[in-house]
Amino acid sequence: MINKAGEEMVVYLVGAGPGDPELITLKAIKVLEKADVVIYDRLANEEILKHAPQAKLIYVGKKAGEHYKSQDEINQILLNEAKNNDVVVRLKGGDPFVFGRGGEEVLTLKQENIDIETIPGVTSSIGVPTTVGLPVTHRGVATSFTVVTGHEDPTKTEKQVKWDYTADTIIVLMGIGQIKENTEEMMKYRDPKTPACVIESGTLPDERIVMGTLGDIAQKDIKSPAILIVGNVVDVFKEMTSKKLVY
Ligand SMILES: C[S@@+](CC[C@H](N)C(=O)[O-])C[C@H]1O[C@@H](n2cnc3c(N)ncnc32)[C@H](O)[C@@H]1O
Repeated sequence: MINKAGEEMVVYLVGAGPGDPELITLKAIKVLEKADVVIYDRLANEEILKHAPQAKLIYVGKKAGEHYKSQDEINQILLNEAKNNDVVVRLKGGDPFVFGRGGEEVLTLKQENIDIETIPGVTSSIGVPTTVGLPVTHRGVATSFTVVTGHEDPTKTEKQVKWDYTADTIIVLMGIGQIKENTEEMMKYRDPKTPACVIESGTLPDERIVMGTLGDIAQKDIKSPAILIVGNVVDVFKEMTSKKLVY
């Protein structure tokens, strides 16, 4: 499809990284600098918007007391803006294809013959552990990791998450609201003594690291956004770190 300037339309789907505004790619900054419109989510740090000084900014995340935009409404905004502007950036927290519904937005735009260029971001699932110094794999301890959602779409007729993963390290996103149920499910397959930790607001000034085990981590005081990490790498991290840990 051709835009107002007579050029082939392109929407950039861009990962903003896990929170720290410096954890964005150079490629992302370059497209933000030429953006006419930036459509952004709650977990994309607003500091990043400084790279798009002339752009119209459209917030589509949740805000207390305000109507929360559905995915259909976001898709419609994307289509409208893509048809009326030269450079549209869709900015998402972390990586746009890791629980970011980026794929759905690409499919919507494709149906209207609008091209998309995707720019990866540092996903919180790995970027947050690495930032605090927690290795998700470690020679002799963990040769694999799984990243899983802790909050499956409740409208699904059958659950896809079965919690019987064989990876050494399990990283759970969006799982704090259901941490009790999720850890109970995991304990069907793993020892309750398996080391576990939660990293809250990773890479941000109010970051907190809460330590425990699979059996007791659900009883700790935890706030979102946060990720849960389960596996023996948590003990390796404990040995390596000089960060303040909460028990
Ligand atoms: C809808 S998912 C989006 C994930 C994102 N696309 C990514 O790659 O990081 C949101 C979840 O990511 C995790 N998350 C995102 N940013 C985080 C941060 N700074 N610290 C801890 N967890 C974070 C939380 O589990 C949160 O519930």
